[in-house]
Amino acid sequence: GYKWVVISPRCFQYKGFWLPEIYIKGSMMIDDHFKPRPSDIIVASNPKCGTTWLKALTFAIVNRNSYFDFQNHPLLTSNPHDFVPFLELFILQEAGSIESLPSPRLLSAHLAFSSFPTSMRCRFVYICRDPKDALVSMWYYVNKLRPEHLPPLSLEVTFDLFSKGLSLFGPFWDHVLGYWKASLESPNKVLFLKYEDMKREPSVYVRKLAEFLDLPFSAEEEDEGIVDKIVKLCSFENLSNLDVNKNNVKEKKRGFPAPLRNSDFFRKGLVGDWFNHLTPEMVKVLDQITEEKFRGTGLNFN
Ligand code: A3P
Repeated sequence: GYKWVVISPRCFQYKGFWLPEIYIKGSMMIDDHFKPRPSDIIVASNPKCGTTWLKALTFAIVNRNSYFDFQNHPLLTSNPHDFVPFLELFILQEAGSIESLPSPRLLSAHLAFSSFPTSMRCRFVYICRDPKDALVSMWYYVNKLRPEHLPPLSLEVTFDLFSKGLSLFGPFWDHVLGYWKASLESPNKVLFLKYEDMKREPSVYVRKLAEFLDLPFSAEEEDEGIVDKIVKLCSFENLSNLDVNKNNVKEKKRGFPAPLRNSDFFRKGLVGDWFNHLTPEMVKVLDQITEEKFRGTGLNFN
């Protein structure tokens, strides 16, 4: 019942997580065919936790020597997803196209950390978010993905499923914990970021991200205010107001399992919008799960 009626697109449990079928195919291809390079950078996330933002920031940081004109930057005319393809989807495209990308390859993934072969030696930058905001964002999103012949999904049902672990790439908490533990074990390989921290102090985290990628800002770059330029370029206010990202044409580009509009990646871009949607009872349940799942791990969303 639940597993395909409710989460759209249809999801199946694979290696402990609920994945749309096409991502399962991609995951298998990674196991068998992906040749990781130590220089690879993977932007990883649970959907709706700030993937689009982190893709933009990572792309701007890594390519700042090629694209130093911030008035004329490629992110002003293309959606961030065009520069950082999902590894699980990209690998299903023409054989060898990933191999022919120059290093450092900038890729992304929604797969759980444990789903990757242990031989993956790349660097991961992971973004997570308060599950309450992630749920609200996901609720809007799954209704956008939902085929027209199905009735909209209520927040109550989405909440019920989410709290039982049934969400795109869920269980949400297990996904977060996988990357959290990996970041503690291998801090040079996995950078763990929180949406809320980044909203509060974006420039601090842009510097952290650059340092993690072995591309720290030089004194000259600091003098030129490059960090602030990157923060502004990639801000919700800037990106969501660009013509390219206001595009409402539904396209099945980028290999996503359902047609999407560029505008679907931008909604409010705020911390705490859950307050306007969730009942006190829902909040209590989610906070309790978070507290139980994260107890003793050093991780919280307070
Ligand atoms: P909301 O629905 O709460 O507004 P993802 O990129 O992982 O799909 O996540 C989408 C969420 O990130 C949406 O949250 C979206 O509005 C927000 N978002 C998109 N671009 C952003 C940006 N540049 N800065 C901050 N938040 C952004």
